[in-house]
Amino acid sequence: MTEKNKKIEISTASRLSVAPMMDWTDRHCRYFHRLFTRDTLLYTEMVTAPALVRGGALHLLDFSPEEHPVALQLGGSDPDELAEAARIGAAAGYDEINLNVGCPSDRVQSGCFGAVLMEQPALVADCVTAMRKAVEVEVTVKCRIGVDDQDPETVLPDFIARMADAGCERLIVHARKAWLQGLSPKENRDIPPLDYDLVLRMKQRFAGLHLSINGGITSLAQARALLDQGMDGVMIGRAAYHDPAGILSAADPEIYGTGTRADPVAVARAMLPYIETHLANGGRLHQVTRHMLGLFLGRPGARRWRQLLSSEAPKPGAGPEVVEAALEPILSNAA
Ligand SMILES: Cc1cc2nc3c(=O)[nH]c(=O)nc-3n(C[C@H](O)[C@H](O)[C@H](O)COP(=O)(O)O)c2cc1C
Repeated sequence: MTEKNKKIEISTASRLSVAPMMDWTDRHCRYFHRLFTRDTLLYTEMVTAPALVRGGALHLLDFSPEEHPVALQLGGSDPDELAEAARIGAAAGYDEINLNVGCPSDRVQSGCFGAVLMEQPALVADCVTAMRKAVEVEVTVKCRIGVDDQDPETVLPDFIARMADAGCERLIVHARKAWLQGLSPKENRDIPPLDYDLVLRMKQRFAGLHLSINGGITSLAQARALLDQGMDGVMIGRAAYHDPAGILSAADPEIYGTGTRADPVAVARAMLPYIETHLANGGRLHQVTRHMLGLFLGRPGARRWRQLLSSEAPKPGAGPEVVEAALEPILSNAA
């Protein structure tokens, strides 16, 4: 596949994406999500540039070929180091390199990563320019509408314009501020109010730039409505994680006009060979099944499924038979 074709493919894929989520969207989670949808763009957890460049933590980049299209999210604020990390990520086979300018956690703030960079747009632009020079794949930015007492009406358009000038090919805007003082990272995902209207207006203003919206989207219907209102892409985080079938099983037919609706039981069964390989490589069952607890959300037998996986999968020696047993209550209720 040529780079050009790959680019067309990823910009189509980004009509819907599953957000980067630390400790959640690891490679097992992404493999699981991929079984619901061929086309949706998946993001890694954030990997810091220092961990890759100075720490040599290349194992953080491991992924399965089935995960494509898959984007690597980087954290950092040093242009040279980010360029090197982007190069390493692209060489590992990622389809896109994304820079995190939206995450407000303490650890991230102290290293000058994430949302605090909304206050330093010139530095972020330098980072994007350096990354852009280093790789052929798309370089994208995930940001907030502002931080603390910034006025999003002025800060966001300025930020977006600078990113576009620096060669950023796509932006994902989490449609709320981050309040860097006084709120926990979790509170910062719920308390600052959502402003979809501002992001929709940014799309009108920067018509030629690919813009995705993120934050508080809880159904595929809501995602479609935002696409219909002009957004190029919609990114969903927590809802996709907690209710993967509800969000992702109809993504291919409804968002991309491809494929058919995925059956959650078939997805559970399709995880079994992956689990066997993971166990054969010395992994633990729970590392995979912890992402599958919400698979049957709202269906009869779902509680038992969760209970069995939660209690049995962490036990030493647990294998695919735990998943088969947890499926029983789902199958007997469906019969
Ligand atoms: C557990 C968790 C971890 C997260 N980690 C990251 C991260 O590493 N990088 C990032 O840009 N955003 C991170 N986020 C924020 C999400 O990507 C997303 O912007 C946020 O959850 C809002 O989208 P949602 O309402 O659809 O969940 C995280 C969110 C959660 C719930």
